[in-house]
This record gives sequence, C-alpha cells and structure tokens, in this order.
Amino acid sequence: MHKKPQESNSHPPSFAETRTSHMVMPGDTNPHGGLFGGALVGWMDLSAVLCSQKHASGQVVTARIDAIDFVAPARPGQHVTITAVPTFAGNTSVEVMVTAEAQYPESGSSRVICSAIFTMVRVTPDGHTLPVPKVEPETEEQKLLYEEGKQRYESRRKSRS
Ligand SMILES: CC(C)(COP(=O)(O)OP(=O)(O)OC[C@H]1O[C@@H](n2cnc3c(N)ncnc32)[C@H](O)[C@@H]1OP(=O)(O)O)[C@@H](O)C(=O)NCCC(=O)NCCS
Repeated sequence: MHKKPQESNSHPPSFAETRTSHMVMPGDTNPHGGLFGGALVGWMDLSAVLCSQKHASGQVVTARIDAIDFVAPARPGQHVTITAVPTFAGNTSVEVMVTAEAQYPESGSSRVICSAIFTMVRVTPDGHTLPVPKVEPETEEQKLLYEEGKQRYESRRKSRS
C-alpha cells in the first residue's frame, strides 16, 4: 500500500457532500415510461465517485453497491437531484450514502425515488490501493450515520474474509 502522509487525516461529511441534478429525458426511460433503473444507478455511481474523490483527494473505483432501494418511479421532465455523503471510512475505502429525489419543476415538491450505499476504494492509476482520510462526524445525525456505516463496514469485511 502506498502512503501520502502529508494529506489531511480527516474531513467532516460536509467537506465532500455532493449534489448533482439531471432531467429525465425520454431516452432515459424503460418500457413503462419511467426512468430506467440502470440510468439512475449510473447517475448515482457518478455522484458517489465525485463525493469520494473529493473526500480522498484522489482517484477511486466502485467496489460495491449495497441496499439499493427503488422506492418510486421518476417520469420524463422531472428533475432528479442526487445527494452523496461520506458516512464512514476504513483504511483505503470510504462508504458513501447516495439518495435520489425527483421533483416537477412547477410544484417544487420532491420525493425520494432511490437510495443505496456505495463502497469506494482509492487507487493509483495502476490499481494499488491508497489510504483515505477518516470521516469525522459533527452533528448527531452524522454520528448516527457513522456508527451505522462502521457496522456495515465490519460486516462487509467479515463476509469477504
Ligand atoms: C476495489 C479493488 C481496488 C480492491 O482491491 P483489493 O486488492 O481487493 O484490495 P483490498 O483487499 O486491500 O481492499 C481494499 C479496500 O477495499 C475494500 N473492498 C475491496 N473489495 C470490496 C468489496 N467487494 N466490497 C466492499 N469493500 C471492498 C476492503 O474492505 C478494503 O477496505 P479498507 O482498506 O478500508 O479496509 C479491486 O477489487 C478492484 O479493482 N475492483 C474492480 C473495481 C471496478 O472496476 N469498479 C467498477 C468501475 S469504477
């Protein structure tokens, strides 16, 4: 494992929290007229990449996607806003919670359509892993997400060993 000791050791979740927006276009839909799940997961994955690259100050790959939950469809013309926030970091991986919300621009009201947990790993261009800064929760909600993320990280490690 390569180390860069001069880099910051921790960041609060807000440091790398990322919000990206898309409009559902007819070409993004499935045969039922709703947003195609694969397109949505691609948008969410890109948000997780942007967020974890900022947290890690480096390149990352997606190692795993857990708990993906499609709770409602989105329709053409709706805006989809995706929020990605780091919850917990191991040594070279960072867990990112990603939530997608859809809204019609006319009403402004929005609802969650999908959520998932991404595990992103910092790598060099030749695929070696690198350390990432810790996540330093500040608010009560962030502390709860951190503890939940830590439990998921430990259970993922157990299931891989
Ligand atoms: C992710 C990857 C770099 C891990 O490489 P590796 O040699 O297995 O590395 P390690 O076993 O040392 O694991 C590195 C970290 O990743 C985590 N990790 C690796 N595979 C994982 C998986 N499938 N699920 C969850 N976490 C995983 C480990 O827990 C470890 O975390 P930690 O350092 O925070 O404790 C490698 O498996 C890979 O390149 N996968 C393909 C990634 C890809 O192509 N993604 C799609 C396009 S971006």
